Amino acid sequence: MTTTAPATNPSRRRRRIAIVLGALILGLAPGFALADATSPLNPASSGAGGIASLFWLLLILAGIIFVGVEGALLYAIFHFRERTGRAAATFHGNTRLEIIWTALPILLLGTIYVLTLRTMTAATTAGGSDPVDVNVIGHQWWWEFDYPGEKVVTAGELHVPVGETIILHVRSADVIHSFWMPQLAGKMDANPGFANTITFTPAKVGVYDAICSELCGVEHALMRARVIVESPADYAAWVRQQQASLPVPSGLAQQGEQIYQTESCASCHQPSAAAGPDLSHVALRGILAGGAIPNTPDNLARWLADPQAIKPGTKMPNYHLTPDQIKALTAYLESRR
Ligand code: CUA
Repeated sequence: MTTTAPATNPSRRRRRIAIVLGALILGLAPGFALADATSPLNPASSGAGGIASLFWLLLILAGIIFVGVEGALLYAIFHFRERTGRAAATFHGNTRLEIIWTALPILLLGTIYVLTLRTMTAATTAGGSDPVDVNVIGHQWWWEFDYPGEKVVTAGELHVPVGETIILHVRSADVIHSFWMPQLAGKMDANPGFANTITFTPAKVGVYDAICSELCGVEHALMRARVIVESPADYAAWVRQQQASLPVPSGLAQQGEQIYQTESCASCHQPSAAAGPDLSHVALRGILAGGAIPNTPDNLARWLADPQAIKPGTKMPNYHLTPDQIKALTAYLESRR
C-alpha cells in the first residue's frame, strides 16, 4: 500500500513564499544599498553622513518595535485564546495598558522628531565663511550650472572644491525637477520662479552622481549630472580653464564653426537662450546629452546624426546633417576646450 503526502493548500503555499520573499527583501535591501557605491548609505559629506546615521538609527528602532509588537501579538493570540472550559481573555478598559500604549509611541515619535530636526539643521548649516555659490537650473532634460562669482556657465558637470561650503541655488527653467546628489546631500525641488538652497561641504575628492528625482517628462531618467569634488588647486585650475577664451578654430574646425552658425545651433546653445546647454569648453566635459552618453568624439558624431535615437524626446532636433557636416561640427566642438 502506498501513502501519498497530503496536498498543500496552494493559497497557503503562496502566502508562505510571499512572507519568505518579503523577509529576504527587507533583510537584504540595506545590504544592496551598502554595496552600491552611489548609495546615500556611502556618504561623502558630513551632512550626508548625518542623514545616513539617522537612517540606521531609525532602521534599528523600527526593527526593535516590529519584533516587540509582533512578539506581543503572537504571545497574546496563543496565551489568551479560548480553551475548553475557558473564554478568551479580554482587556477592555485596562487603564494601565492604555496609558502605556499611548505614552510609548508619543515618546518614540518625539525622540525621532528631535533627532530628525537636529540632523536637518546640521545637514544644511554652512561651515565656511566664504562659500561657493552656484545656480543649479533644471531644464527638460539636463542640468545647467552657473557660477555667478566666477562668471562661468556650464552643463552636466558640477565642479566643487573639497572641504569648502557650497551653496546651490536650485531652480527650474520649465517644469518641476528635483536635484539629488545621493552621497552629498538630500533632495531639493527645482521650481520655476524661485530658488531653494542646498548647503553642503564635500568631504572626499571623487566623482559623484547627481540625478533628477521628480518625474518631469519622457526623459526624466536621462536627466543626470556628475559632481566632481576636487582639491582647491584643481578646482581653481578648472575655473581658470572655463574662463579662458576659446581657441580660434582652423581647418576642419573652422568649417564646423560655419555650420554651427548657419544651422542655427548657436541660437539655442547659449546661456541667454537656455534652450540647450552652453557649449563653451564642451570638449572638457565627461558626459553628453544630460548624461545619456559619455563624451567621446564618436558619441558626439552619433548624437549629431540622430539625437532622437540616443535620447527619444530630447528637444535637440535632427538637422539631417551630411556625414561631412557632422565630421566638421565634431572637429569644431572638440576644439572647444
Ligand atoms: Cu527633471 Cu525628472
